[in-house]
Amino acid sequence: MLLAGLELISPFVAAPLAGVSNLPFRLTLKKGGASLVYSEMISSAGLIRQQPQTLRLTRTLEEEAPLALQLFGADPAAMGKAAAWARKRGYGLLDINMGCPVRKVRRQGAGSALLDTPDLARQVLEAAAQGFGQAVTVKIRLGYKHNDLERIMSFLEDAPLAAICLHARTVAQGYGGRACWPAIAWLKKRAAVPVVGNGDVKSADDAVAMLAQTGCDGVMIGRAALADPYIFARARALREGHAFPEPSLEEIRLDLHAQASLALRLDGPGLALHLVRQFIMWRGGGKPGIGALRRRAGMCKDLSELLRLADNFFYAPEKLCA
Ligand SMILES: Cc1cc2nc3c(=O)[nH]c(=O)nc-3n(C[C@H](O)[C@H](O)[C@H](O)COP(=O)(O)O)c2cc1C
Repeated sequence: MLLAGLELISPFVAAPLAGVSNLPFRLTLKKGGASLVYSEMISSAGLIRQQPQTLRLTRTLEEEAPLALQLFGADPAAMGKAAAWARKRGYGLLDINMGCPVRKVRRQGAGSALLDTPDLARQVLEAAAQGFGQAVTVKIRLGYKHNDLERIMSFLEDAPLAAICLHARTVAQGYGGRACWPAIAWLKKRAAVPVVGNGDVKSADDAVAMLAQTGCDGVMIGRAALADPYIFARARALREGHAFPEPSLEEIRLDLHAQASLALRLDGPGLALHLVRQFIMWRGGGKPGIGALRRRAGMCKDLSELLRLADNFFYAPEKLCA
């Protein structure tokens, strides 16, 4: 798939997930076949102030290139400066968040609130594209309470966009309820740029079905990749008609250890312990014994103890149920 000038190995990309899609986890998603990974959403205002906690979110390594950096903000000047910074740093793609339903973000006029302020939304996109030196991508929703795509497209169609990603839910739906795939099909027919569909993709079958049913160019997968980072490679194999070699328990164990050692190197023992607990819980999601694992993981005082616990869990979860 060609997206914003990038030749991607497959249409299956990993979603931006605040608090989740950090660098160690993104590398695992990349190993699991994600053709493109996104940063967590980053405040353009925080970025131009070079706030340490914001800069932390922009860290990247060559192994994950191209990284899509996602920015949010409602001040075109700040967005332009943040985008120019991103260009200098060499990120592969710049995405602007116009879908976030969180009140704190909407109150600033950013995220999904921009869908209701067309003039400002266009100014933000124009400033971003100018600062980045090329067209940007945008991630949107259907509208606030109902499917408002016709109106949204009337102001997005002339914006300097390289692609549109549609999370096919309304803002009011948050992250629950059914995603409206027919709206993705509608957008694909209407938009002059590539369309990436998102929402209700829980398996590799769903990912391939979304491509077939909507005609979209790419499929973005978020929560399903937490427990199954190999969903991207599995979807690609399914689409291309070949068998997917399932990762062994040893491979899963090594993935967790790789995430842990990178988290330790990047963030030190305290934060790494917290992050690795999250990685383990996500990876074990839905497996029997996960409740016992959570309790015991909370008591671990250092990373090696935590990883020993995880090794035992992934090899023999039933032992932890006792
Ligand atoms: C914990 C969490 C954090 C999210 N953070 C972001 C974000 O930073 N930027 C964004 O555009 N979307 C964000 N989203 C939305 C996802 O990218 C995606 O659109 C949504 O989860 C639907 O896809 P899924 O069902 O495959 O997870 C977030 C969703 C969740 C659950």
